[in-house]
Amino acid sequence: MSVKNQIPLDSRLALCASFVRDGARLADIGTDHAYLPVYLAAKGKISSAVASDIRKGPLENAKSNIIRFGVEDKVKTVLCDGPDGISPDEATDIVIAGMGGELIAAMIKRTEWFYDESRRLILQPMTRAHVLRAFLCAEGFDIKQERACITGRKCYSVMLCVYDGRVRKCGSRFEYLGRLADDGSEEAARYTDMIKGKLRKKINGLMQSGDIKAAESCGSILRELEEGTE
Ligand SMILES: C[S@@+](CC[C@H](N)C(=O)[O-])C[C@H]1O[C@@H](n2cnc3c(N)ncnc32)[C@H](O)[C@@H]1O
Repeated sequence: MSVKNQIPLDSRLALCASFVRDGARLADIGTDHAYLPVYLAAKGKISSAVASDIRKGPLENAKSNIIRFGVEDKVKTVLCDGPDGISPDEATDIVIAGMGGELIAAMIKRTEWFYDESRRLILQPMTRAHVLRAFLCAEGFDIKQERACITGRKCYSVMLCVYDGRVRKCGSRFEYLGRLADDGSEEAARYTDMIKGKLRKKINGLMQSGDIKAAESCGSILRELEEGTE
């Protein structure tokens, strides 16, 4: 078995990897185990990578995997908050995966060099993806591609985004389902069901707590998703 086949890349990280361009200089922000840059470097798909994390523990984990899979010449580690310790010339393709949508949006907002048509942002929010999509639309990023994947019992969305400066109107349907709304795949259908289920749960909670106005507002979002997809 080759080294790259031993790297435990699940379908979520494999989907992120599929959006990285050949020969890219990669930044993997919040890398933890560094499986993504290690896999891409071992495969010879990227020219270099910076694997960053805000915590020392995960970065130690990253370092030992980089050594274990023999890619020290291609992958370096940086201890920093978000993109703050990465220089623009180190990254053509930036992956931010496994963090909340609001945190990802805040990282983009403070990083001027992300607002550049030549770079790719590959984003995989764990929560509040709708906040991230609304932010991207308002900031002039095009969600060029979006795909869903299933890992274990969970379903995730991965977005490939490029800045073009065009501010987009983003209705509820796009905020909650993005490009998955028009994707006929089984994974996109699962993602749609998951989002609708979360909204239903939220509406029930709001009704029980007596916040009827907020429940009605969530109800109208749910109706928009149901009318558009059924
Ligand atoms: C759930 S793990 C995701 C790891 C990997 N990206 C993945 O998707 O499998 C989140 C990682 O992000 C790191 N993290 C959280 N906030 C961060 C920040 N502001 N800047 C950099 N890394 C951060 C955490 O320390 C943790 O290692």
